[in-house]
Amino acid sequence: MDSIDVAACWEANAETWTRHARAGYDLYRDALNTPVFLANLPDIAGLTGLDIGCGEGANTRKLAEAGGRMIAVDIAPTFIRHAQEAEAAAPLGIDYRLGDGTALPFPDAQFDFATAFMSMMDMPFQNRALTEAARVLKPGGFLQFSILHPCFAPPYRKVLRDDAGNIRAIEVGRYFDGIDGEIETWRFGAAPVAVKASVEPFRVPRFHRTLSEWVAMIVAAGLTIEHMAEPHVDAETAKAIPYLADTHIAPLFLHIRARRGAAA
Ligand SMILES: C[S@@+](CC[C@H](N)C(=O)[O-])C[C@H]1O[C@@H](n2cnc3c(N)ncnc32)[C@H](O)[C@@H]1O
Repeated sequence: MDSIDVAACWEANAETWTRHARAGYDLYRDALNTPVFLANLPDIAGLTGLDIGCGEGANTRKLAEAGGRMIAVDIAPTFIRHAQEAEAAAPLGIDYRLGDGTALPFPDAQFDFATAFMSMMDMPFQNRALTEAARVLKPGGFLQFSILHPCFAPPYRKVLRDDAGNIRAIEVGRYFDGIDGEIETWRFGAAPVAVKASVEPFRVPRFHRTLSEWVAMIVAAGLTIEHMAEPHVDAETAKAIPYLADTHIAPLFLHIRARRGAAA
């Protein structure tokens, strides 16, 4: 599967995704993943940033609110249209453009930093996506990105519960299956049942790579890892928001910040 096929899948997902994400049904993103990502982000006030795979732009807006001077790209035109409409309604100075993370439409060394929230594991040829991100960074600039956790969210992940319904373990499998575009179908689990029943499921092509493959690609792109995070809730939050409780047992997401060296 190439970028054109991937773009077609995301374009088909984009209307429902935007509506449901903006209704608050992307609860992992809003209640866990993005807050941890932003908490670990260096100060970006006044810096020029690129958000890669921005979707409808919710996270790009947060970066702009934190002072980043943002350009953002996504491969799906409908996401870009929704993001641009949000920008027109409440301007933050964000420049949204249609673009492919594996062939970025920018010159070398344009950005102080780049972000990719949950988009790089959705791209074929992640090596190219990482090399492209490194290319458009100024020497010393950083890339911070989140992905499905390669170890705890490989193509097979199942939440196991005890008789009382408490989560006791996460079962994983197919870790070494280097899938290229296998389609996963799902809806935002936090949406009400009737809402979920009223829409077609998302069709998301997956490109799973092992942890060591990710590290090898990051190193080959000339980037040096300087920070990692595995967002998770504590026991209290797991009780208060059961939807997130699986992350108390094992993480669902992995965050990495890597920096372009002066010689990259
Ligand atoms: C899981 S969504 C995340 C969206 C957004 N970053 C967020 O956190 O809400 C993945 C996004 O990556 C985009 N995407 C997938 N492949 C891409 C590529 N090759 N170049 C740019 N964007 C891509 C999709 O269109 C989609 O918007």
